[in-house]
Amino acid sequence: MRTYVITGAASGIGKATSELLQERGHAVIGVDLKGSDVDADLSTAEGRATMVEAVTEKSGGSIDAIIACAGLSTPTVATAKVNYYGAVGTLTGLRPLLAGSEAPRAVAIASMASLFPPDDELLHLFLDGAEEDAIARAAVLAANDQLSAQIYGTSKRALALWIRRHAAREEWAHAGIPLNAVAPGIIRTPMTKDLTATEEATKALLEMVPMPLNGIADAIVVARLLAWLTSEENTHLCGQVVFVDGGSDVIIRGESTW
Ligand SMILES: NC(=O)c1ccc[n+]([C@@H]2O[C@H](COP(=O)([O-])OP(=O)(O)OC[C@H]3O[C@@H](n4cnc5c(N)ncnc54)[C@H](O)[C@@H]3O)[C@@H](O)[C@H]2O)c1
Repeated sequence: MRTYVITGAASGIGKATSELLQERGHAVIGVDLKGSDVDADLSTAEGRATMVEAVTEKSGGSIDAIIACAGLSTPTVATAKVNYYGAVGTLTGLRPLLAGSEAPRAVAIASMASLFPPDDELLHLFLDGAEEDAIARAAVLAANDQLSAQIYGTSKRALALWIRRHAAREEWAHAGIPLNAVAPGIIRTPMTKDLTATEEATKALLEMVPMPLNGIADAIVVARLLAWLTSEENTHLCGQVVFVDGGSDVIIRGESTW
């Protein structure tokens, strides 16, 4: 039996992953705004500190895997806070608790939306600037109807790049911890409910996010991948962003990456 910490465990992909791992006999410490084992707001530094403290207490100081799922897709400042600082804070805050595991693993959820053109200034501030400056830039974007939609994709691109930047470093690869990300296409969860409410809306969405391989996916599809990435079987995947998107990455990026 392994102990997993899953953020965003009350809904969608986090919930499906939590249920799958528990069915397989593992212990899960769920984290979410409310209704989980640990209630914490990961969009604030205080909330992240509360989360680390509560998980340390509940786990007795040792966990086997971190699955950072919590996120928002609204064109708001909160999306910048939780998707980037919430996820990075979860990974770095809980990493010391992996030290006692024989097979420590960590994964976060990026998105195929990380392929959309980012706001370059926000991307740079996420990765190399101060949090307050990134949040100030996100507020400028959020106030502009033409630009606010870029917050989501930019936050996910920054998260994916953070993972590539850190995965081979001392505290992750050298400590025996595979650190990776998944990048889902459109997944049927409460997050996408309104976007897929009508046939017309779904068609328009699939034009932006083409999914020729089996179309829109259920949360369990991503859950199975997350479960494998954080299992004992994954010993050598390092800093990869695994697209589980029915083909949109292949269509959008083609042979420019491999
Ligand atoms: N559904 C999709 O199509 C899709 C596609 C690509 C990526 N993703 C990503 O997958 C992850 C899970 O999304 P989902 O579709 O399951 O959505 P969801 O809305 O069903 O679940 C997200 C969970 O995150 C929690 N959360 C949000 N803000 C939080 C905060 N400040 N502190 C703590 N918890 C918070 C929510 O309460 C919710 O339970 C997100 O990071 C999302 O961006 C989803």
